[in-house]
Amino acid sequence: MSDQQSPRTVTRRRLLQFGGSVGVAGLAGCSAIGSRLSTDGPSSSSTASSPSSRPPDTTNRLTPMTGLVDLSSGESYESWFYNEQYPAPELRMIEGDRLRVDVENRLPDPTTVHWHGIPVPNPMDGVPEITQDPIPPGDSFRYEFEATPSGTYLYHSHVDLQLDRGLVGPLIIEEQSPHVDYDKDVTLLLDDYLPSEPNLDAGNGMGEHPPYKGFLINGQSPNDPFVVSTEENQRIRLRFINGSSSTTYQVGIGGHQMTVTHADGQPVEPVDINSFSISMGERYDVIVETDNPGTWAIQAEPNRNETEAARAVLQYADINKSAPPEQPQFDGPLLSYDDLQSRTQLDVSGKPDRTFDLTLSSGMMMQPDTWMIDGQAYPDADPLQIQEGEHVRVRLSNRSMMIHPMHLHGHFFQVGNVVKDTVIVPPHMGQVTFDFVADNPGKWFFHCHNLYHLHSGMARVIQYM
Ligand code: C2O
Ligand code: CU
Repeated sequence: MSDQQSPRTVTRRRLLQFGGSVGVAGLAGCSAIGSRLSTDGPSSSSTASSPSSRPPDTTNRLTPMTGLVDLSSGESYESWFYNEQYPAPELRMIEGDRLRVDVENRLPDPTTVHWHGIPVPNPMDGVPEITQDPIPPGDSFRYEFEATPSGTYLYHSHVDLQLDRGLVGPLIIEEQSPHVDYDKDVTLLLDDYLPSEPNLDAGNGMGEHPPYKGFLINGQSPNDPFVVSTEENQRIRLRFINGSSSTTYQVGIGGHQMTVTHADGQPVEPVDINSFSISMGERYDVIVETDNPGTWAIQAEPNRNETEAARAVLQYADINKSAPPEQPQFDGPLLSYDDLQSRTQLDVSGKPDRTFDLTLSSGMMMQPDTWMIDGQAYPDADPLQIQEGEHVRVRLSNRSMMIHPMHLHGHFFQVGNVVKDTVIVPPHMGQVTFDFVADNPGKWFFHCHNLYHLHSGMARVIQYM
């Protein structure tokens, strides 16, 4: 059985507050609500998402703010985060709960919060200009929606390059009855760590990336790794979330196989693998059987040769903790989307009602800082129009030399037999086809989840006619 009692395993980094008197907002259970919440007007949640006006089961406060992140290495740097925590607090609830999150913006810039992967009602989606006006500094906004379906998700700012500042955290909707058994449930958030202000120029162009200082798991670096402690003969559910802005990883665990049980939060038939790739915005849940005592690395290797990999540690009880963790070999089978079979498939058999053929490309020599979908760079790009009830097919072909994790808001889609919301389109003429059902009216963003590609044009709006 799943262990609902197990304490949250996400370690909160000690953060020093920048600028004085701001208190830490409470998490689950807090019910105080500021008086400046927008409770009327077009962006209000009160009419948009609570037709039942059912009271929320979970109320949270998120306070985006500036401050100093204090790494255990002794280094600290100014950054932006939620509730004085990096990564942001894990929001966890049960499937079907009504979730309310009051966001009070204490940043110097406008912000929003996006609930990545959850098919929320359109006004709750947190995309500036498309689904809401960004929340001005000093102002508040109430998000409210039903936490469904269950799954491993993330939330993050959707304004400018704020995601790469540290405004990102896990959101877990627990199943009423999981299709797999486990003893312990651990979230592992991968992030590329940028101790300076993100800037579009640094992140752009062919193969160029911002100067990441390293790669973290739950905010911890390889020399002070996050530890998953275990005993022998346990089943540990690890929820991997890639919250990075422009890094794809290959993940493996020394001395252990993994059984993939969920892709982008949705249940799949269990499949045994040695390693998997995870791109920006993707999630994989795996189960690890602890049958090999020792100290082992849970390793996420960036798919470019840079600095040290991100690493957590799987630590068995009664094992000498001073030994360095043994690393995975990355030699066995690597997960492919073809290996995944979702337990609930979308209703997309037969011929689609509408098909979009879209190329993904860069501006090359002419506009090296531009990334395009079908030759157009957002916001100078036509919306993709669909009609409610349609079966829509999207065929993507990648004419660039970089990987593009393409994410659709507000819907799941099906790639082969797996249901996802973010899909890797491999470089060098890689092709991906996905299908979805137009069942959530509104204006939905569809974009590359490489933050720098997104903000250089690789986005479209999918609009219900
Ligand atoms: Cu996590 Cu529009 O993205
Ligand atoms: Cu991209």
